[in-house]
Amino acid sequence: MTMRISVISGPNLDRLGTREPEIYGTATLADVHRSVEEAARAEGAVAVCLQSNHEGELVSAIGRARDEGFDGIVLNAGAYTHTSIAILDAIRASGVPTVEVHLSNPDARESFRRRSRIAPACLARVAGFGAASYVLGLVGLVRHLRSRQSPAP
Ligand code: DQA
Repeated sequence: MTMRISVISGPNLDRLGTREPEIYGTATLADVHRSVEEAARAEGAVAVCLQSNHEGELVSAIGRARDEGFDGIVLNAGAYTHTSIAILDAIRASGVPTVEVHLSNPDARESFRRRSRIAPACLARVAGFGAASYVLGLVGLVRHLRSRQSPAP
């Protein structure tokens, strides 16, 4: 069966392209989505992308992921990364393997960005490569999930 990955972006990521381009680059979120969808296709998987500025919508999307048939999640929770226990709990409750991604490298920025509330629930983290963080996160996740699938009899 084709592997399905939910790619979720949080607050202010809809502003990519014009938002602090010296930090986040000039690619728009549509560009990021196109790259990650292409990478998924090349891996024989499907990426379904969504963005919300609302914490509760992100929690609900993570919570629905298993029922919607997703095998994994690539998540850029934006600033909620640093604050949201609700998103941490949603990842744990969903039981869906999740990779934390960031365009910038939060560890190299203000000290308040160094703490990720969601990291303890995540399988891995990719940060600092711009849009490529999403692509690398997706490829790593798909390959990890495949390596865990038992070989066909
Ligand atoms: C971000 C990093 C966060 O610290 C910030 O609040 C964002 C974007 C990133 O992709 O680099 O909104 O998640």
